[in-house]
Amino acid sequence: VKPEPLKIMISGAPASGKGTQCELITRKYGLVHVAAGDLLRAEIATGSENGRRAKEYMEKGQLVPDEIVVMMVKERLLKPDSKQNGWLLDGYPRSLSQATALKEFGFDPDLFIVLEVSEDKLVERVVGRRLDPVTGKIYHLKYSPPENEEVAARLTQRFDDTEEKVKLRLHTHHQNVEAVLSMYEDITIKINGNASKEEVFAQIDSALTNLLEQKAASGSLA
Ligand code: AP5
Repeated sequence: VKPEPLKIMISGAPASGKGTQCELITRKYGLVHVAAGDLLRAEIATGSENGRRAKEYMEKGQLVPDEIVVMMVKERLLKPDSKQNGWLLDGYPRSLSQATALKEFGFDPDLFIVLEVSEDKLVERVVGRRLDPVTGKIYHLKYSPPENEEVAARLTQRFDDTEEKVKLRLHTHHQNVEAVLSMYEDITIKINGNASKEEVFAQIDSALTNLLEQKAASGSLA
């Protein structure tokens, strides 16, 4: 019996390395990466009314209202590729109401990964972050520099990646994190995110390997 595909959530403060780890996880495990922040930035890029409203909140480092975010995430998780390959939900849920909505829609995660990173590192990571608009890849001027001049020349910075804005985002994170954690205590794994991206991934990789083995074992008993 083929085990059910993995359903994973990843959480952590702004710039704790969620997107970076998601690149590594999807490369190895083939899950569909569903990032709330990326869905919102794509909506902004369409020029829609929802995108315009979302940007107002994002610029203040506040949570975008549920009526915009919740449906966006739900629709993406219901697409056939997410159902078939499993999903990796990044940056959602960020509040109790979002977690409750997820449960009501019947999405039951297997594992909740929480990246823990000290605050001084978060600011340094935000300020040095750059994105490649062509490949979507995440870089850091010091920790993950671009491979060549061509990539370096086209890198962009996010509108909310300033020291001032990351402090606002961090404040919002602290206001909501405990409520979300309390919903997933039994499936939470806390990962020390202060190490290099390869070392952080090694911890996540071993947790996912264990989980797949458990699923395979329970599948073969069924
Ligand atoms: P979102 O886009 O989710 O931003 P965030 O949570 O602030 O997280 P980031 O994307 O900034 O960081 P990350 O953890 O992915 O780190 P990364 O891997 O890039 O949300 C933006 C906004 O959208 C929110 O403020 C809110 O307004 C809104 N929003 C989003 N979700 C919402 C929701 N559910 N409800 C309501 N509103 C929502 O890494 C950062 C940098 O560090 C990179 O340069 C990277 O190269 C580097 N780096 C990564 N790992 C390491 C390492 N181990 N060592 C050294 N450097 C590293």
